Amino acid sequence: MIEKQITAKIVFCELDDLSETEQNLIQLAKQATSKAYAPYSNFQVGAAVLLDNGEMLTGNNQENAASSSGLCAERVALFYANARYPDAKVLTLALAAQSLVGFSKKPISPCGTCRQVLLEAENRYDSKIRVLLYGAEDIIIVDCIKDLLPLSFDESFLDLKD
Ligand code: THU
Repeated sequence: MIEKQITAKIVFCELDDLSETEQNLIQLAKQATSKAYAPYSNFQVGAAVLLDNGEMLTGNNQENAASSSGLCAERVALFYANARYPDAKVLTLALAAQSLVGFSKKPISPCGTCRQVLLEAENRYDSKIRVLLYGAEDIIIVDCIKDLLPLSFDESFLDLKD
């Protein structure tokens, strides 16, 4: 039997520790929460992505009475960016959430399906996506999506090459 450890680095920081661009990206994610459509959970999530062409685009969660038909903020932002600029790499993703009592104190983290979708973008553009998870008390930085999804499934398993 062989035991292996998979480790991931996460960094706790404050807003001032981030560059002006990253602070702006978090601000956009926070603003995007207020435009979420979340009548069922009252949990409004905002995501903002920074592309390598300098564009910053946002998305938010879009819920549905048939719950599985809704979509998380991360995927709305990412698919919007991919649809508008299919050739632009996604450099950074910022995430924020607020409930009826205000912005969450602890940083929220992407759900499993969003991690899988974000991993696809990392592989598609062969470029790491830095993740900024906003909480009113703490901000967490993760260097790449792969760190959020160890032992992941990707296109390499599909054996698509001749
Ligand atoms: N949600 C997101 O938009 N992103 C996440 O990372 C976690 C959850 C949304 C889905 C649903 O509309 C609401 O938050 C409550 O789960």
